[in-house]
Amino acid sequence: SKPRVIFSGIQPTGIPHLGNYLGALSNWVKLQNTASPSDELLFSIVGWHALTLPQDPQKLREARMDILAVLTMYNPNHTELAWIFNCITPMGKLRRMTTWKSRLATSRNMGEEDAVDVDDGGLNLGLFAYPVLQAADILAYRATHVPVGDDQTQHLELCRVIADQFNRNFKGMEKLFPLPIQLNTPSKRILSLRDPTSKMSKSAPDTSSRILLTDPPSTIANKIRSAVTDSIPGITYDPVNRPGTANLLTILAACNYDNEDVQETAGRYVGKNHGALKKDLTEAVVELLKRPREKFEKLRTETGYLEQIAQAGAEKARSRSEATMVEVRKRVGL
Ligand code: ADP
Ligand code: NA
Repeated sequence: SKPRVIFSGIQPTGIPHLGNYLGALSNWVKLQNTASPSDELLFSIVGWHALTLPQDPQKLREARMDILAVLTMYNPNHTELAWIFNCITPMGKLRRMTTWKSRLATSRNMGEEDAVDVDDGGLNLGLFAYPVLQAADILAYRATHVPVGDDQTQHLELCRVIADQFNRNFKGMEKLFPLPIQLNTPSKRILSLRDPTSKMSKSAPDTSSRILLTDPPSTIANKIRSAVTDSIPGITYDPVNRPGTANLLTILAACNYDNEDVQETAGRYVGKNHGALKKDLTEAVVELLKRPREKFEKLRTETGYLEQIAQAGAEKARSRSEATMVEVRKRVGL
């Protein structure tokens, strides 16, 4: 089969959480172990994305080291390519991005449905154009496969639209960009423990809404105990009417049952209640995060080593993407 270029990234906006782990990081490790020797794997810390929300520089530096303890790279070619993409991306497409709409809804205190075409409520241009930068992250390496969580499906669709638009506008001997496909993670999108209608996210202000890779067992237990569910007796998988309960089942299916059909996981709880589910879930998450947490704590103290890895990664990333950029500049006439 054709060699794959596999690219994915994570923002340095805080310690990775269970959603990042199930939706991305654990899958990246699996890919690393199963990829064929001709595949190229690139995993990036995408710092420019973090700047689309207000960040304290010192905290951002710390958070970068947090993520570096997990993986690494820095490459200015991303921003140059993003600018070129900005110039071929219709604003209407960006306005339809769920991430933008939900930020807008939050800032305007209204539902996502209504938050189309309203005044942009103090949000910045970087946040609006964020999915374009993400497309540049991916296409700078002409990546063919992108292992990301379900929350990124829409962004990846936009990435293909941009790649295709560039290919049409700037024809050469061959199409410059592949249309990258999503490498699905087996687990579903993990939701916030406090507000199970939104995704578990590093940037949510309420830290009890997410389980961190570094949380000790007692913290994991507390967060799961106080996870918002519902007052319906018994356990059923009903994501529409019981999103909190459904989320706990999704996480349990991912941790303990190899991502079995969540209905089946629910079937294990016939005649049981939330208490039983939360107890089992706590044990499962504690067990799942035990080794990643130990590894993280150890690596996190080795800042010199982490910087070294970051430099090597940046080096590789820059030279790898330069070939793309030379061709991009030529085709657009710069
Ligand atoms: P966050 O939104 O928490 O800041 P990132 O944007 O840095 O996370 O995403 C890093 C990776 O983690 C992406 O592949 C993304 O799809 C995945 N991811 C983030 N949040 C979740 C979630 N709640 N459920 C599943 N995967 C997630
Ligand atoms: Na995100």
